[in-house]
Amino acid sequence: MSVFAAVIVAGALTAHLVAPAGHPDTLRDLAAKHHLRIGTAVDTAALAADAPYRAEIAGEFSTVTPENVMKWEVVEPRRGTYDWSAADRLVAFAQANGQQVRGHTLVWHNQLPAWLTSGNFSADELRQILRKHIFDTVSHFKGKIWQWDVVNEAFNEDGTLRDTIWLEKLGPGYIADAFRWAHQADPHALLLYNDYNIEDVNAKSTAVYDLVKTLRAQGVPISGVGLQSHETVSYAPNTMRQNLGRFDDLGLDTAITEADVRMDLPSDAIKLQAQANVYSTLLESCLATTHCLSFTVWGFTDKYSWVPSTFEGEGAANLLDENFQPKPAYAAVRTDLSVTR
Ligand code: XIL
Repeated sequence: MSVFAAVIVAGALTAHLVAPAGHPDTLRDLAAKHHLRIGTAVDTAALAADAPYRAEIAGEFSTVTPENVMKWEVVEPRRGTYDWSAADRLVAFAQANGQQVRGHTLVWHNQLPAWLTSGNFSADELRQILRKHIFDTVSHFKGKIWQWDVVNEAFNEDGTLRDTIWLEKLGPGYIADAFRWAHQADPHALLLYNDYNIEDVNAKSTAVYDLVKTLRAQGVPISGVGLQSHETVSYAPNTMRQNLGRFDDLGLDTAITEADVRMDLPSDAIKLQAQANVYSTLLESCLATTHCLSFTVWGFTDKYSWVPSTFEGEGAANLLDENFQPKPAYAAVRTDLSVTR
């Protein structure tokens, strides 16, 4: 996917791309034929510093997700002091390039500011703090966010609710509250519950299913479910269509929100082919699902990936290598998107 790009950096970052010979369509063009948005997480430091990285994002993707800069520890590092600057720059970049933004994420147990986790707040105080965070954040970006990951990773693998500061202090009702507050702050944004290891039909995805079904029945404004899809080359989810289908049948949207497929390093041809197959499984499952709205990868190049620093000895999880050269997975994604349905 080497692109011939003339990047114009003006007030907002914009890029004009010409697709290289032999690749007449970008991924976003191909995805558009399926009414699908194709997205990537964006490392905003790299976006500012690395012109080829910037050009790939502008050219190939129709939605972006801030990898870190909308998280609570970034937007409110000191209580009452907001810093939206990095997120605002990404939103401006997306608007300049005709891209939708996925907001990530409002309620999570990780990447919280220290003032919050060490504040010893009462339940009432914490509830007001969460409510204010959701109102302030969603209001700041009102009208500019397509999908919000409202609640992230609230379940354990066995389907019980994860023991977090939110569950412990506020009880399970914090989930419905979060969706109600987000909806009040931006009634047009799609509001998703987002989690990992819920691609297959399993205890965790069934707990998510039961939750969203209950929320819907209670009139809680939830639009759908985000399936993070952090995978490994050794396993391709084999009940994913069925799983996406049951959310579809509830009248809910779905989205693949953080796809990557890691392997033990070093990579080799066999692992790279297995990786391509897993990416295909994810994308084809989404394409087969009526209300699967978007397919987002958690970074598109091995040059910038959370995997090596998180999973020891693993990496090479993305569609392009460190030099932006396409891997078999990139070709597989192109092929899947090129099939006419
Ligand atoms: C990760 C980022 O990629 C890293 O840069 C950061 O250090 C930690 O968080 N699930 C999520 C994402 O919902 O927000 C996480 O992103 C990866 C797992």
